[in-house]
Amino acid sequence: MNNYTIDSNKKYLELYNSSTQSPEKFWDKLASNNFVWNKKWSKVVDWDFKKAKISWFKDAKLNITVNCLDRHVIKNPQKTAIIFEPNNPNEKHKSYSYSELLVEVCKMANVLKSMGVKKGDRVCIYLPMIPELAFSVLACARIGAIHSVVFAGFSSNALATRIDDCESSLIITSDGSYRGDKILNLKQIVDDALEICETKQKVLVVKRTNESMNLKHERDYLLNDLIDSVNDVCEPEIMDAEDPLFILYTSGSTGKPKGMVHTCAGYMVYTSYTFKNIFQYQPEDVYWCTADIGWITGHSYILYGPLSNGATTLMFEGVPSYPDFSRFWQIVDKYKVNQFYTAPTAIRGLAKQGDDFLKDASLKSLKVLGTVGEPINEEAWEWYDNNIGKNKCPIVDTWWQTETGGILISSIPNVIPDKPTFATKPFIGIQPILIDDSGDELNEANIVGKLCIKYPWPSIARTIWGNHERYINTYFSAYDNMYFTGDGAFKDDEGNFRITGRVDDVIIVSGHNLGTAPIEDAINEHKKVAESAIVGFPHDIKGNALYGFVTSKDEINDEKLIRKEINNLISNKIGPIAKLDKIQFTSGLPKTRSGKIMRRILRKIASKQYDDLGDISTLLNPEIVQEIKDNSI
Ligand code: WT7
Repeated sequence: MNNYTIDSNKKYLELYNSSTQSPEKFWDKLASNNFVWNKKWSKVVDWDFKKAKISWFKDAKLNITVNCLDRHVIKNPQKTAIIFEPNNPNEKHKSYSYSELLVEVCKMANVLKSMGVKKGDRVCIYLPMIPELAFSVLACARIGAIHSVVFAGFSSNALATRIDDCESSLIITSDGSYRGDKILNLKQIVDDALEICETKQKVLVVKRTNESMNLKHERDYLLNDLIDSVNDVCEPEIMDAEDPLFILYTSGSTGKPKGMVHTCAGYMVYTSYTFKNIFQYQPEDVYWCTADIGWITGHSYILYGPLSNGATTLMFEGVPSYPDFSRFWQIVDKYKVNQFYTAPTAIRGLAKQGDDFLKDASLKSLKVLGTVGEPINEEAWEWYDNNIGKNKCPIVDTWWQTETGGILISSIPNVIPDKPTFATKPFIGIQPILIDDSGDELNEANIVGKLCIKYPWPSIARTIWGNHERYINTYFSAYDNMYFTGDGAFKDDEGNFRITGRVDDVIIVSGHNLGTAPIEDAINEHKKVAESAIVGFPHDIKGNALYGFVTSKDEINDEKLIRKEINNLISNKIGPIAKLDKIQFTSGLPKTRSGKIMRRILRKIASKQYDDLGDISTLLNPEIVQEIKDNSI
């Protein structure tokens, strides 16, 4: 039986059962039949969740770019691999066929080599959504360098932390980036970051906006000066299945970001398989995911998943609101996009603009719609279904995480029916379960619990860069022999999962995963601030927005000014995405007797659920609750 294509519910059930009953047999066959290997594995999977030791396809040899490029160049060299749609609709778009893309990747790979980058070195990529971003990522993979893409909306401080953490030796950036009618000077941000970095870097600069910039002698190099003198062939580095492919940072509940490490073989197999089936990609389709490659969604479902399937994938440099709110739909019509994958925050933002922006859109080409990043509310789901899908496109609500590498829970068009606000069923090989507060598995239906996964899947992260202890503690120590997701979920009586949200101190704002601790650290640097606590509260477009409770060291005369300064600090330390919508000054924060801030109470106040504060009598300072309630914003 061909186990690669899932085209009916019957087939899904058969494959699901065999993948969970005999996982080794299942993945052995799937991986053998559908990818190019230089050498086969000695063992399909080896794992010990206690020590967080996981390996897939042990001892196998491969290069992921051979699977994403070379094999398609042999079969179908002229097929379009990447379509690049610029920020400005008047600028001509570009497309790259598989054979052109291979040449670009090889050239970039040879530039990296000429700058001294070797297998295992870390390369930090800080670029806008331009074709060179794709070339850079794939060029690293080609030569076995580990890429660490940092979203180009992060501040210089956040960039510096990420550079130092993985001790990269090279940063790839651009002079500037276009976002709507704004230009961001990326090179300046990199210069600022390097002022505070401890590790020594070289900088490779791509020209995009022609901003003026300073090039530092023997540190900064222009891509244009190097690219013409390199060869356009670069033999792929033969990688071990478990060699790291990339590091991608994600926020945690505490302190510094976690550099999640993904490895070559398992990541390739799982992202490829999920892409093909969850989007039901057919050979002539044009697929578009609106995410930025700086997030895991872009890694897995703009680049590696689509390219390993020989798909046509669209990269959009701009924003949904520029030149106006019809931009997404114009792009869908321009390229006859068949699969469209975006985030609930974008859907809500566009729905709010009204249907005028849709009146000239045909949207006839669309077959499948997708959403990712946070729970989607019913209203947004219905709007998406009615106005974009015209009630004929299945909606895949795909639940997953940076740590999981690929989608773990989702419906599948014409295979697993969608259900508004439910991610629905586990993908092949995935064994989700719900756990109650005492750590027991919940077997009944219609119940909420903490979402855990029982058995490893090929694209699970292998470690946190430089901190395996933290990896064990965060994901494998809460419950025995299980991966703990940090999310809560509800399961209905048909086995459909609905994700209810984070159960830890991570808040999802506009689909961005933000930890409260680093934001609080940034606020606490303000000279007037004594202590702070951040919670999320419901927001019409962003899903959640941030509410900060701040105590000060001395009297605050100009609250407006301090609020502004606090948000500037956050912008500087993390990036504008982490700014607070509301800041309330208070004389104290509710604390337990052991001194822990009771965020539960603050969360209720922030979402105006004043009557539902629970028992506050055990607090160290119960009287503060009334004050905070009275002054809440
Ligand atoms: C967290 C992971 C996976 C790519 C984007 C985010 C939330 C993600 C859904 C969904 C409800 C979702 C979860 C998860 N989340 N997708 N379909 N429904 N919640 O990756 O930044 O690692 O964030 O995003 O809370 O744990 P990430």
